[in-house]
Amino acid sequence: MNGNIIIKNAVELVTCSGHTAKSGEAMSELFIIKNGALVIEKGIITYAGSQKNLPTPSALEQFTIIDAENKSVLPGFVDSHTHFVFSGYRAEEFSWRLRGDSYMDIMNRGGGINSTVKATRETPKEELLKTGKQRLDSMLTFGVTTVEGKSGYGLDLETEIKQLEVMRTLNQNHVMDIVPTFLGAHAIPPEFKDSADNYIEFIIDKVLPLVVNNKLAEFCDIFCEQNVFSIEQSRRLLTKAKQLGLGVKFHADEIVHLGGAELAAELQAVSADHLLQASDEGIHKMAKEGVIATLLPGTAFGLKEPYARGRYMIDRGCAVALATDLNPGSCFTESIPLIMALATLYMGLSIEEVITAFTINGAAALSRQSSIGSLDVGKQGDVVILEHPSYLFIPYHMGVNSVETVIKRGDVVYTKL
Ligand code: NIG
Ligand code: FE
Repeated sequence: MNGNIIIKNAVELVTCSGHTAKSGEAMSELFIIKNGALVIEKGIITYAGSQKNLPTPSALEQFTIIDAENKSVLPGFVDSHTHFVFSGYRAEEFSWRLRGDSYMDIMNRGGGINSTVKATRETPKEELLKTGKQRLDSMLTFGVTTVEGKSGYGLDLETEIKQLEVMRTLNQNHVMDIVPTFLGAHAIPPEFKDSADNYIEFIIDKVLPLVVNNKLAEFCDIFCEQNVFSIEQSRRLLTKAKQLGLGVKFHADEIVHLGGAELAAELQAVSADHLLQASDEGIHKMAKEGVIATLLPGTAFGLKEPYARGRYMIDRGCAVALATDLNPGSCFTESIPLIMALATLYMGLSIEEVITAFTINGAAALSRQSSIGSLDVGKQGDVVILEHPSYLFIPYHMGVNSVETVIKRGDVVYTKL
């Protein structure tokens, strides 16, 4: 494990080359090198090009050599929207939804997010670390090398901090890179049941400063939704978070159209996520301001809601990222191939666009487009090798894992048995 690797003879090196988010037509260009090779030295890519021109590093014996004959090689995937630190499953809610209850009905009668909050508050840190690690291990097998994780199942000072600290510890101890987001405004907790305004005030005055001072999060998020937090409350919290130096990304226009996309443009958010009900005007404004549209088709699938208009967004010049939204309620999956299949079949994205959405655009949704998300010289050596000769297999083999090997910073961290 020294971060030195040579991957040779790849049928295709899907580089996704670039250092910025790709929007509109640019999302279709994957910059594929046929019969390619890749060199990673001390965790950093030093060569991405043809097999023919592969340079021989001086201390060759210090390199692991992988023959990728008949295989496709891609950048590690970036899952830029998850809620992977939680306790308490909600399998029964899934069955209630099958018999007709809506996600918001369940939430409004005290279930949903607040039931996970109750369980997460009661769970010791060690247990959250253990289940968090298990989920990261599973994500890694799908080729995810960087993941975003949100708090939001504490909704009190102590538990919000506990969740963020769990992510900090996992980031130190696990090969996965974890980008933490503060989602204190995920739901209205029982203690503030009659006043969402007071809860937002509490977050701004008491929790946010602690999160920022202890560098526990890079982004601030809010569930901007009817009967949860209004546009005005979202503007108040996110403006404050931005002033304090956090990036802004939030759950916008998921179930009801409130104008979340418009607000994201106004605040020049890094991303607006979900967007099932985003208006034409909101989409236009997001494209203009360069706000990434992070789409989560697994959630629309799981809730039987209409899919976000991914095709329309790209055609209007938006940069689209895709993510799993892994959480115990609306979307309990970490399957990248499932999300890719849904995005192609139901959002009208091409396979090339879907790959861009999970690599360089996912990286950009976490403000990491200059260091990950593509196989470019100088970037971190995070790589996925498929068991197939083409990236086309990922959505085609619907929901089933095509990943054979995962490399993180130049070291093999997963191989399919
Ligand atoms: O992205 N909508 C709000 N938050 C999550 C669901 C969280 C949960 O149900 O526990 C989402 O869908
Ligand atoms: Fe979410």
